[in-house]
Amino acid sequence: MHNLSGQIALVTGASRGLGRAAAFRLAEQGAHVIVHYGANQEAAEAVVAQIRRDGGQADAIGVDLAAVDGAHRLVEAVRALRINHLNVVVASAGIAEPALLGDQTVEAFDRHFAINVRAPFFLVQQLLPLLGEASSIIFVSSVAARSAVDGLSVYSATKGAVNVLVRNLAKELGQRGIRVNAVSPGAIDTDMGQVLLSTNDGREMIKGLQALKRIGQPDDVADAVLFLASNHSRWVTGESIDTSGGARL
Ligand SMILES: NC(=O)c1ccc[n+]([C@@H]2O[C@H](COP(=O)([O-])OP(=O)(O)OC[C@H]3O[C@@H](n4cnc5c(N)ncnc54)[C@H](OP(=O)(O)O)[C@@H]3O)[C@@H](O)[C@H]2O)c1
Repeated sequence: MHNLSGQIALVTGASRGLGRAAAFRLAEQGAHVIVHYGANQEAAEAVVAQIRRDGGQADAIGVDLAAVDGAHRLVEAVRALRINHLNVVVASAGIAEPALLGDQTVEAFDRHFAINVRAPFFLVQQLLPLLGEASSIIFVSSVAARSAVDGLSVYSATKGAVNVLVRNLAKELGQRGIRVNAVSPGAIDTDMGQVLLSTNDGREMIKGLQALKRIGQPDDVADAVLFLASNHSRWVTGESIDTSGGARL
């Protein structure tokens, strides 16, 4: 249905969680996937090995996106693979370290903005020569950008910034035929999601907030990423698709 044969996709934070699920989805549809990771090389290489076992193409690249030049180094590494054109970019790498206002530190604040906002912004900037007509950029935002969650004010602010970037970059890059969108997950069953989902009470609380009464899985988000990556969403740009089972409607 979503044939991505011959296309090349870069997925950041693809060693785990939502990025990993998106990498598998895009590869299943025929894309050659660049699997980016931060610290978990072994996990990223396992993703690459699985994609290759399934008959697909993949390579792993490790870069710390907290570093000032992280996005620049990631693009250098992509070019070192002799890749000169990207059809799909999924910016999934991110952190969420809960803290109430009184416990927040400048260092943690800066780390959130460095990884969740600065890195994907400069990634898009540095990738511009590799992007062109019909390239699709997909940020991973969050429902936290529209709905307050205790202890996640800084994290939520980064996702609010991401939503603003999506609209502005979509406008700026539209003249080149490049689309820019986001998915906005609710609580999803990944390592990060355990902030809310690690206890039975937490899981019940989350289900209570959603219209659909189950816990969201990485594939629930990966399918929306696939839609935004594909030609099926060719007339969609500057948007964020809420992938939360209808959280806090
Ligand atoms: N899970 C949820 O409930 C949820 C809800 C809404 C939005 N989101 C968003 O979805 C995205 C993915 O979240 P997730 O649930 O998949 O999280 P996760 O399971 O914790 O995975 C995070 C990913 O980001 C990478 N990463 C983190 N810090 C990095 C750094 N400094 N440099 C490079 N890579 C780094 C990790 O790579 P390594 O492990 O290799 O370091 C890992 O692949 C994030 O942007 C998050 O904000 C998640």
